[in-house]
Amino acid sequence: MAKRMMYCWLSTPLSTAKQRFNIKTAPSFSRPVLASARAERSISTASKKKKKKERNKSVEELVVVKNDKEKRRTRSEKEYEELHSFHETESHVPVMLGEVVDVFSSLPLRSFIDCTLGAAGHSSAIIKGHPELECYIGMDVDPVAHAKARAHIDALLQSTRSSLKPHLLFKNFKYIKSVVGEIDDDCKLLSSGVDGILMDLGMSSMQVNNPQRGFSVLANGPLDMRMDPRASVKAKDILNYWPDDEVGRILREYGEESNWRWLQKKIVQARQQGGLHSTSELRDLIQGATHGTKGGRQGWIKTATRVFQALRIAVNDELNTLEKSLHACFECLVPGGRLAVISFHSLEDRIVKQTFLKIIESNGGDGDVVEEEAGKRDLRKMRNDIDAKETWIRQMVQGQNGTILTKRPITPSEEEERLNRRSRSAKLRVIEKIR
Ligand SMILES: C[S@@+](CC[C@H](N)C(=O)[O-])C[C@H]1O[C@@H](n2cnc3c(N)ncnc32)[C@H](O)[C@@H]1O
Repeated sequence: MAKRMMYCWLSTPLSTAKQRFNIKTAPSFSRPVLASARAERSISTASKKKKKKERNKSVEELVVVKNDKEKRRTRSEKEYEELHSFHETESHVPVMLGEVVDVFSSLPLRSFIDCTLGAAGHSSAIIKGHPELECYIGMDVDPVAHAKARAHIDALLQSTRSSLKPHLLFKNFKYIKSVVGEIDDDCKLLSSGVDGILMDLGMSSMQVNNPQRGFSVLANGPLDMRMDPRASVKAKDILNYWPDDEVGRILREYGEESNWRWLQKKIVQARQQGGLHSTSELRDLIQGATHGTKGGRQGWIKTATRVFQALRIAVNDELNTLEKSLHACFECLVPGGRLAVISFHSLEDRIVKQTFLKIIESNGGDGDVVEEEAGKRDLRKMRNDIDAKETWIRQMVQGQNGTILTKRPITPSEEEERLNRRSRSAKLRVIEKIR
């Protein structure tokens, strides 16, 4: 494997603490910045070891270790407020909006697919920034998202007097290839490939903030958790009818919950009293099951968050769908086209990272990704087709089918994390198809 990969360290200096922590302006920022730096330093040895294991072995072999903080991610230095002028929606605040805009800004974007439309925050910024756009497709499985997105996009197109005809489809992104085939009848340029594709995974604020959808740990509602209301399985079906072992597996694998055995037992026992039907019943059960364990309120809330995450992943079959869809999206790209993915938890991010690595080196050839000793060559210099202004590209991984433009994921700026809590766990990874 070592012989087949080329890792390139780009020379963008990230080394000063000032740059790394995005200290740009007011002294009032220095407190949270230092607090955050201290918090990062205090990550336990155990969790460091776990994260290290998760990293792809082949990557690890070739990485020149600078320090852990630089290794794990690239903190965005984008100004947050400046970007927010793109977006005035009251419904869902798009995460890493400016960073996503930057990913596509150097490309002539004649065609674009937003796989996770939501309230069209990202889509609106892309449409606004690319008047050359001839074919736009937005997909989502949630009708509430469609209503919001349609209103935002229509208003934008009207205000800019654009003649773009958007295709908004109530479809799962796993069907992206057939969607491209269908829309190509109308929009001929898709047959040569799509210039840009975005996936912003996870839930929208419209979903989380509506207790009736069942996603919220704190507000009471039915145990539903379907993003697509046409789907047949709800969270309550899993809890009340699925085999005991399957319930345990979901908690263990999708929630990474160490107390899964105990919780599985309690959930199965609850079936004898009529089962679980509301989020508050599930929350009470978790609170009871974690009673006396360390962490107090924070302890059970964290457990509940993991259990809710596990159920949501299972109900929507999120992880299986993701890996297959990443391959499908990449296949839809035009040479030089880019796929950007924002993930919100480590299970998703691991799939994105590992699938990108698989994608760039696989196609039955002899796996001939050029090898280079880490740190010696600058891929940016070799790739003179990459715009010098694309400063967000720091380290790339070159394969025979494409280039991973974010060897380390980009994470939100400190300011965005402070102003939008939902952005805290976000990670952005980008891949480009070979030109
Ligand atoms: C985080 S939100 C997207 C927000 C959007 N980027 C914006 O700026 O408003 C994620 C959206 O993806 C949708 N979604 C999740 N999984 C999906 C899938 N497999 N296919 C299509 N849409 C999906 C959800 O219904 C939700 O509306």
